[in-house]
Amino acid sequence: MCGIVGYVGPKSTVDVLLGGLRRLEYRGYDSAGVSVITESGLETRKKAGKLDNLVAEIDSHLLAESHIGIGHTRWATHGAPTDGNAHPHLGGSRSKLSLIHNGIIENFSELKAELLAVGTQFASDTDSEVAAHLIAREYDEHGDLLKSFRNVVNRLHGAFTILVIHEDQPDMVLAARRNAPLVIGLGHGENFLGSDVAAFVEHTKRAISVGQDEIVILRADSVEIIGFDGSTVTSEEFTVDWDATAASKGGWPSFMAKEIADQPQAVADTLMGRVDSEGRVSIPEMHGLSAEDIKNIDRIIIVACGTASYAGDIAKYGIEKWSRIPVQVELSHEFRYRNPIVTKNTLIVAISQSGETMDTLMATRYARDLGAKVLAICNTQGATLARESDATIYTHAGPEVAVASTKAFVAQITAGYLLGLYLAEVRQSTPIGELQRMGRELLRLPALVSDVIDSLIQPKELGMELSDAKSVLFLGRNVGFPVAMEGALKLKELAYIHAEGFAAGELKHGPIALIEEGQPVIVIVPSMRDDESLHPKVISNIQEIRARGAKVIAIAEEGDTEVSQWSEHVIFVPQTEPLFASILTVIPLQAFAMALAEAKGLDVDQPRNLAKSVTVE
Ligand code: M6R
Repeated sequence: MCGIVGYVGPKSTVDVLLGGLRRLEYRGYDSAGVSVITESGLETRKKAGKLDNLVAEIDSHLLAESHIGIGHTRWATHGAPTDGNAHPHLGGSRSKLSLIHNGIIENFSELKAELLAVGTQFASDTDSEVAAHLIAREYDEHGDLLKSFRNVVNRLHGAFTILVIHEDQPDMVLAARRNAPLVIGLGHGENFLGSDVAAFVEHTKRAISVGQDEIVILRADSVEIIGFDGSTVTSEEFTVDWDATAASKGGWPSFMAKEIADQPQAVADTLMGRVDSEGRVSIPEMHGLSAEDIKNIDRIIIVACGTASYAGDIAKYGIEKWSRIPVQVELSHEFRYRNPIVTKNTLIVAISQSGETMDTLMATRYARDLGAKVLAICNTQGATLARESDATIYTHAGPEVAVASTKAFVAQITAGYLLGLYLAEVRQSTPIGELQRMGRELLRLPALVSDVIDSLIQPKELGMELSDAKSVLFLGRNVGFPVAMEGALKLKELAYIHAEGFAAGELKHGPIALIEEGQPVIVIVPSMRDDESLHPKVISNIQEIRARGAKVIAIAEEGDTEVSQWSEHVIFVPQTEPLFASILTVIPLQAFAMALAEAKGLDVDQPRNLAKSVTVE
């Protein structure tokens, strides 16, 4: 979950490192640090708290000029977020080696015991420091840094990206990757390392994604990659398709505010080149799955976590309806450890913004071992998930920096619907005319999303008005049910208040007992035009909770003449195909949660205890 950056080249290293850390801070923000090698040797600055604390520390204890260094922003696993536990960690009795680490070293206790037995002094409670001492010790014995590094990473169990610099080798950064992300940025006379391309995109768009169990030897004018076993590795370069401005606030008060506003573009870019003006869907990236493979699919299992899993819940409605393939949606961490039934005719659809969520990676690896094909829906080029899948549909939402997912969510739903339409066409399970009608309706969505964004004043005012609420409940039915759960998740993670999303039909089976005078309930009201006549059922639910004192805020479609009679407030969204309404109805919920959190004075981009990418299980 931590952010990692490395640099060798002519620029001011501390500026490159701090710029990279600023862009990676979303990955972890409970402490940060840098090490650089200067004329007088290795120098390190580190500080608990946000990156600004480290910047202040460097301002008061300046670092001399340097052209090589490593930087880290931490999300604590082993050891509290203190100055001492912040990375980098120094190794060896003369502290000439500096190391940063993202991940968890599972066998650190055993390795630490070995080091304690020979008298090693530890300066932190972290698992990472163990690796620093092991490498330094071995280097002191034979003087070969690469050999020491390779020997030690081969001894580590768990998940790690590790970067090391050593005072004796001031021209080289060594990096190793197992089960945690690492990307190389290729410059002219300079090279970079980062947890993702955001670390270096302001300097170069040429990148290489480092594979599993690979070591990088990074110098200013060369990049060499070898396997943990010492074998030579060939790698493929790719071009980052967004620029640095896409990962900056651009005048918005927060990344979240900007990313909410980016949603029309996120949907448009995800549709681009995949739906023609007649509404016909083609997904060229599906080439890893042949028409034969698609016809043989007898079950789809969507695996994902958090918001991405709610996108899967929504996509399920469309995929099943059009392709007639049974779909189940599973939280990746639950799926992986329950001995699920997976065959070679199962298609696993893994949804992940980052493509680095360890729970989802473990679930897909497990399913692949059982013979299933894996299709990724992913927002991050070069991500591990994409590399390890048979095919990837990229959501082109651009970099999402705020921890709370917004634009990635609507892009994931869009991609899920594209997938459903595509599968249905290949399997001829729904008349082509109907599929094309859906395709044309998808093309209207960016404009409709814009209309919703232009009228977010009302949910924002409601958010401010309810800033003292102790609990908010959300109700929905059909695609409105996952939207309700997503609305509740946004509120929990941003405003730290109790919030639950329920299926409206489930209300009378228990949750209605929670309703008391003044309880705010946000209800996602289905379209009056829905074939299944769910609208009157939800209106009845509203009446039931109103009768028990609930304060109802409804999100309903324009033209819904009935809902106003039964709700304190109604937020209207434009009419669309009822299945696609989720892309519109979730947006007021995002704005509501953001405004409520801001009214409480909270940091909406970096909520407490969270990190953007959860790269540990
Ligand atoms: O990168 P991923 O899409 O795999 O992340 C999955 C979840 O961790 C993520 O959606 C999380 O729930 C968000 N913080 C929610 O806003």
